[in-house]
Amino acid sequence: MSTTESTSTVEQAVRAALATVDDPEIHKPITDLGMVKGVSVAPDGRAHVGVYLTVAGCPMRETITSRVTEAVSKVSGITAVEVELDVMSDEQRTELRRSLRGDAAEPVIPFAQPGSLTRVYCVASGKGGVGKSSITVNLAAAMAAKGLSVGVVDADIYGHSVPRMLGTTDRPTKVENMIMPPQAHGVKVISIGMFTPGNDAVVWRGPMLHRALQQFLADVYWGDLDVLLLDLPPGTGDIAISTAQLVPNAELLVVTTPQTAAAEVAERAGSIALQTRQRLAGVVENMSWMEMPDGTRMEVFGSGGGQVVADSLTRAIGAPVPLLGQVPLEPQLRECGDSGNPIVLADPESASAQALRAVAEKLTVRSRGLAGMSLNISPVRK
Ligand SMILES: Nc1ncnc2c1ncn2[C@@H]1O[C@H](COP(=O)(O)OP(=O)(O)OP(=O)(O)O)[C@@H](O)[C@H]1O
Ligand SMILES: [Mg+2]
Repeated sequence: MSTTESTSTVEQAVRAALATVDDPEIHKPITDLGMVKGVSVAPDGRAHVGVYLTVAGCPMRETITSRVTEAVSKVSGITAVEVELDVMSDEQRTELRRSLRGDAAEPVIPFAQPGSLTRVYCVASGKGGVGKSSITVNLAAAMAAKGLSVGVVDADIYGHSVPRMLGTTDRPTKVENMIMPPQAHGVKVISIGMFTPGNDAVVWRGPMLHRALQQFLADVYWGDLDVLLLDLPPGTGDIAISTAQLVPNAELLVVTTPQTAAAEVAERAGSIALQTRQRLAGVVENMSWMEMPDGTRMEVFGSGGGQVVADSLTRAIGAPVPLLGQVPLEPQLRECGDSGNPIVLADPESASAQALRAVAEKLTVRSRGLAGMSLNISPVRK
């Protein structure tokens, strides 16, 4: 056997090994993405692999290098691996974008397409500070921990607290006009906060909000998601209407505290579903009680709000809207949020983590056909 022949067999084995290496952001083999520039193997078994990064200064360069090195060094006959990074040309990037999402001229929102298998939940409340963002990140983390592919859109243009609660300060990478979302705890996350320098307050008007949200949904490369959660700003404003227009099949998840006043506004937030014809997935009551050292429950914000909202929404839309769970008030939940470690992961046995996991379970276990209730029709329900 000549040296050339054996080298080319080893080269083929190296290419096969490279096909097992996924791009950390696009989650597809680098061989399919046109990222392998060249492979050569010296007679002494030293492999030289050229890899194209999608953009210069790609934050994933180290991850890609180590993944390539690891995969190639396992190939028998390879004694050393040398990875050389290069950057794609504009043409290569255009080609990549085309192959990833077709040639559509208008941004297409994959979740709004007929046949989309992604369940989309809009987490809404009438009042601010009831725990929407905390609940969003914990549900997302709990679902991701179960192995689901989960994305979160921080649609609270004014608040944008989601990245901090998930513990990411990463910025999205741009490939052509596609945005690669950063990941934290297995959750893909996009927030307006990632596009504004520092903590600048952003003044957004209705049409800009709509456009920003459309971009989050269409231009972000989410891949195949099982669940997408949108953390909405409080109230019944523009964003709620925009989401309903952009993703008509999204379901509303209403968050309230047990307090009467909060329950009333939550009800109002829920009843916008009547106008937008969105489905109502259910109600989550947050800050339901605080467990005292002696095991008794202190109802800091009163009691019953969650059930009241669920009952009254049930009456309003004429179909059952369940109270999906009651999450107790636990200082640790806030601390975990502040440190970017959702409590469902940081302290899974705590009472609030258990309650949140149970809600996540209910939202993912239901078959899609029974998910919430489409309005303005009178379906037969068992
Ligand atoms: N069950 C809980 N126990 C303890 N603290 C909580 C709980 N739920 C939320 N918090 C805390 O309450 C504050 C408000 O929660 P969060 O930011 O999630 O609410 P929000 O509805 O998203 O608020 P906004 O309307 O401002 O976006 C945060 O500091 C959070 O850590
Ligand atoms: Mg919030």
